[in-house]
Amino acid sequence: MQIIDKFLKEHRLSRPEYEELLSYWQNSEVVRRLKEEAVRLRSQYYGNAVFTRGLIEFTNYCKNNCYYCGIRCGNPSVERYRLTSEEILECCRTGYLLSYRTFVLQGGEDPYYTDEKMVDIIRRIKKEFPDCALTLSLGEKSYESYRLFREAGADRYLLRHETADEGLYRTLHPEGMSLKHRKECLYHLKELGYQVGAGFMVGAPGQTFSHIAEDLIFLQELEPQMIGIGPFIPHHETIYANEPAGSVELTLFLLAVIRIMFPKVLLPATTALGTLDPIGREEGLLAGANVVMPNLSPVKKRKLYELYDNKICTGEEAAECRGCLGRRVESVGYQLVEDRGDAVC
Ligand code: 5AD
Ligand code: FES
Repeated sequence: MQIIDKFLKEHRLSRPEYEELLSYWQNSEVVRRLKEEAVRLRSQYYGNAVFTRGLIEFTNYCKNNCYYCGIRCGNPSVERYRLTSEEILECCRTGYLLSYRTFVLQGGEDPYYTDEKMVDIIRRIKKEFPDCALTLSLGEKSYESYRLFREAGADRYLLRHETADEGLYRTLHPEGMSLKHRKECLYHLKELGYQVGAGFMVGAPGQTFSHIAEDLIFLQELEPQMIGIGPFIPHHETIYANEPAGSVELTLFLLAVIRIMFPKVLLPATTALGTLDPIGREEGLLAGANVVMPNLSPVKKRKLYELYDNKICTGEEAAECRGCLGRRVESVGYQLVEDRGDAVC
């Protein structure tokens, strides 16, 4: 148990030490201590505030074929859609009235949205909602594209590294994608002054504690402002259809570990967590998370953005989702706030 004391005191461990720490994920006393410290640190910097990000899934076309993902290009059963600029702006308008002050444009890697189109959309959103932060999540792009988007007004960028282990990365992705390039993108985004989000799936097929320890070390090096982690959930049209889902408990354990490592980080209680457990997101907040990402996509399109099976919040109206989340957040003693929710310095 010395390792727990060391972690709680120093907030930093070596890779083998993280591996040892992870071996305690089912020890209820350890879990209790870590969550307690995580919640203490979160409230020190953020009080009882929980930030919202209105998620707009604007295209489910993707040129990539990540083996775990339901909307990969190799899945012919997906009914593909794209939102127009006007439809995207409509989502923002709805979100603004629901008090959202961050919008996240998320999509597959869809070449239809050229740099020119993206710059136009970014400018229009920032012009109409100057008091809102705009987050992009469009995958891997060139330095030049990232620069253009940043100049057009984008504030943040989410690009999960997925796994920091070369071997595991190879098994989860086809030839042509590389961990090296992914990491390069993350460093480019940092250099350009984006608030950057990285992250990984918990329980991805083939993942071990050693891999997760490597993820934690990578995050330590990158020092992102946002970290997105959620359990892997199989999608029926992928080669991993029959793999077990990641563990909710291990995800919660990791949320607490990450909060302790990075006390000021913006850490969402993810939709995947809420999909595997009806109160997964509430549990996430109680393990140190401080962000939720309600769906703002047009209701008719929501079911089509199916990264994994049984994704929640694909039926509700935006207003219902806002109300539901507000109640959920309050049920565990926190408050949704009307704020951009930038990371504290
Ligand atoms: N289960 C859980 N998360 C997934 N993602 C993609 N496919 C799955 C899945 N089957 C995650 C990836 C990606 C993010 C948008 O969704 O980590 O970066
Ligand atoms: Fe979307 Fe509950 S959070 S319906």
